[in-house]
Amino acid sequence: MAVWIKPSVAIIMFLLLQCSEYSLAASTLETFAQCVSLNSDLSVLPLSTIFFAANDTFFTTILQSSAQNLRYLVPSAPKPEFIFTPLHDSHVQASVICSKQLGLHLRVRSGGHDYEGLSYVSEIERPFIIVDLSNLRVVSVDVEENTAWIQAGATIGEVYYRIAKKSRVHGFPAGLCTSLGIGGHITGGAYGSMMRKYGLGADNVVDAKIVDANGKILDRAAMGEDLFWAIRGGGGASFGIILWWKIKLVPVPETVTVFTVAKTLEQGGTKVLHKWQQVVDKLDEDLFIRAIIQVANAGEKGQKTIVTAYQGLFLGGVDKLLQIIRQSFPELGLTGKDCVEMSWIESVLYIASFPTGTPPEVLLQGKSTFKNFFKAKSDFVTEPISETALEGLWKKLMEEDSPLTIWTPYGGMMSKISESAIPFPHRNGTVFMIQWLSLWQDGERDAGKHMNWIRKLYDYMAPYVSRFPRQAYVNYRDLDLGMNKKNETNFIEASGWGNKYFKDNFDKLVLIKTMIDPDNFFRHEQSIPPLPRPSSQSMGCSDSA
Ligand SMILES: Cc1cc2nc3c(=O)[nH]c(=O)nc-3n(C[C@H](O)[C@H](O)[C@H](O)COP(=O)(O)OP(=O)(O)OC[C@H]3O[C@@H](n4cnc5c(N)ncnc54)[C@H](O)[C@@H]3O)c2cc1C
Ligand SMILES: *[C@@H]1O[C@H](CO)[C@@H](O)[C@H](O)[C@H]1NC(C)=O
Ligand SMILES: *[C@@H]1O[C@H](CO)[C@@H](O)[C@H](O)[C@H]1NC(C)=O
Ligand SMILES: *[C@@H]1O[C@H](CO)[C@@H](O)[C@H](O)[C@H]1NC(C)=O
Repeated sequence: MAVWIKPSVAIIMFLLLQCSEYSLAASTLETFAQCVSLNSDLSVLPLSTIFFAANDTFFTTILQSSAQNLRYLVPSAPKPEFIFTPLHDSHVQASVICSKQLGLHLRVRSGGHDYEGLSYVSEIERPFIIVDLSNLRVVSVDVEENTAWIQAGATIGEVYYRIAKKSRVHGFPAGLCTSLGIGGHITGGAYGSMMRKYGLGADNVVDAKIVDANGKILDRAAMGEDLFWAIRGGGGASFGIILWWKIKLVPVPETVTVFTVAKTLEQGGTKVLHKWQQVVDKLDEDLFIRAIIQVANAGEKGQKTIVTAYQGLFLGGVDKLLQIIRQSFPELGLTGKDCVEMSWIESVLYIASFPTGTPPEVLLQGKSTFKNFFKAKSDFVTEPISETALEGLWKKLMEEDSPLTIWTPYGGMMSKISESAIPFPHRNGTVFMIQWLSLWQDGERDAGKHMNWIRKLYDYMAPYVSRFPRQAYVNYRDLDLGMNKKNETNFIEASGWGNKYFKDNFDKLVLIKTMIDPDNFFRHEQSIPPLPRPSSQSMGCSDSA
């Protein structure tokens, strides 16, 4: 029966779509929902619980739920036609098939942390819909096999929690912010406090399940090694929808040590940071010390100063840590009093800034702790920045209301993995990565001022950071680096951002994109473009011929 019903309804729908005068009653959402139920295992669910149109009571709540950058939630930001929150892998497959059939532009969202809101706003195409994977969050840990299968909608904090629940000596090396969605996070690399020991999250993926542009589910064996390479670092939403990642767990000691030491300018902050740059990539691989730099009213007379907080994780006990610091970075002035020994999962909470004593179960809420209007940029540094240049940087930071810059050490395992092992290319030779941020709360009013400030800061820093290309981290997406454009002959040009995010790996990403999604179904402002087809047929209608 089912075999007979499916094609006949599909044909009717096809006719409805072709002859718009017959589609009087059916809204886009109704047609889409019908299509999804034909193409998936929707069983007896009330559709109203998984489809949210703009006039739905819950539309705004769901739209805003995980969206991290308030800049893209203002009333003037383009809104989706509707939001679909699948409950099953087959719903995700159907969402691809049906978006294609109805000519709807699809955006996929896992954790909603995209810096430019690309998972919930399309600046380039209307109408668009959001497929939000937040209901798909199974985490299945197998400590015997040292692996876990994780559904894309789970947060990285839930992953850490589920691992720690099963074992005190297993962990996973990915992001520091626990509300990140595993679906988007790993597609761009996923760095965190164990990167110097174990590399990125994406370096520790062993299998995946992805829905391709034809709505088929492919695992590693079915997709082949090229596509499996591309999805581990080639950026989100260019190749398909990740349904599941299979990760390899890594060993962590039962006791780790964390610390935070702050230095103001008056306490010799510039000199300490200069020294940090010289040693930080060469330290013991068990040690990670990042520098969090802010403006504060903490000078001697309460005047503005720059505060650098050195936040550390050591995969071992406090005695060994102090010994290492005495030998390689005594300028930090670290003492036993600054250090706390704890379990690895407690260190996750510490680094994510949860108050001391917060139970790890907080990670199951999968919620972000703060939301801001923000604009960010990233840089990679290959040689220490001079004290004079740092002094100039302090002046720039003091001009802005709420600037923040985070410097993350490389070296260790990051240097041992080749630049082409996965698309993430920032490896040996990188001393540290910088993230630049301006945060604000006063809405659209002064947005222009803050955007100008960060762009000027970026110009100021140009001589001191990587060049040819000036590298950037794809997970810190920055639309200032360029957006895809169609040229006069309708070919998509990736204007500049490709080599910054991927260096020489960009060309291979384009070739794989051309093979796997030649019609460019998965696209956004900075998606990997396919090569032009030899004969330039216009996209879309050729299939029905
Ligand atoms: C507060 C904050 C802290 C951060 N900390 C870190 C950090 O410590 N380390 C680090 O490496 N990065 C960090 N990031 C950056 C983060 O890794 C990226 O923003 C990442 O893309 C977030 O993934 P997501 O699923 O939460 O975001 P989303 O906005 O849902 O997705 C990001 C991109 O991936 C696409 N995408 C989403 N789900 C899928 C899927 N299932 N399949 C295919 N494509 C998909 C989206 O369409 C979008 O283009 C941080 C970001 C924020 C806002
Ligand atoms: C939303 O609008 C559609 C038609 O566009 C209508 O069918 C539906 O009942 C409306 N829903 C609500 C909750 O008002
Ligand atoms: C990294 O590069 C340096 C200098 O180019 C080289 O001496 C070193 O061997 C490289 N390290 C690794 C692990 O490849
Ligand atoms: C458009 O881009 C394609 C591919 O990059 C290129 O071959 C072609 O010459 C371009 N056309 C124009 C008019 O710039």
